[in-house]
Amino acid sequence: MKIMIINGPNLNLQGIREPEIYGTVNFTDLLKELQSQFSAHEIGYFQSNVEGEIINCLHEFGFSFDGIVLNAGAYTHTSIAIGDAVAAITTPVVEVHLSNLSKREDFRQNSFIAPHAKGQIIGFGMSGYALAIQAFL
Ligand code: DQA
Repeated sequence: MKIMIINGPNLNLQGIREPEIYGTVNFTDLLKELQSQFSAHEIGYFQSNVEGEIINCLHEFGFSFDGIVLNAGAYTHTSIAIGDAVAAITTPVVEVHLSNLSKREDFRQNSFIAPHAKGQIIGFGMSGYALAIQAFL
């Protein structure tokens, strides 16, 4: 299977930003781990702090890959355009968040992605990415 992981804003700082909320593991290490755990599958990775680049990436992989794991960061709560892109593509999307959004601020309770996603995995830290990949297998 071909699975693409797409991360949104500030996730390039994962491992050093607010570790009490997001943990200390970074994506370089996680990606190595996922690629060895799911070695029979192709696992791609893209991160951007730019909304349009995330949309372009969804368009690029969203008609040929078997699954997309998307953590759109704060754009989750603000971006109708990313929600529309998830609705537009044919590849199923699993929405992932490291933190348990239900325990956090009111402005994090809305997701413009959720209505178009296959499902959500929230609050399991970096393990959420492996769980999301598992959901496609
Ligand atoms: C996040 C949750 C968002 O609210 C926040 O803006 C992030 C990270 C998470 O993975 O828990 O950047 O998507």
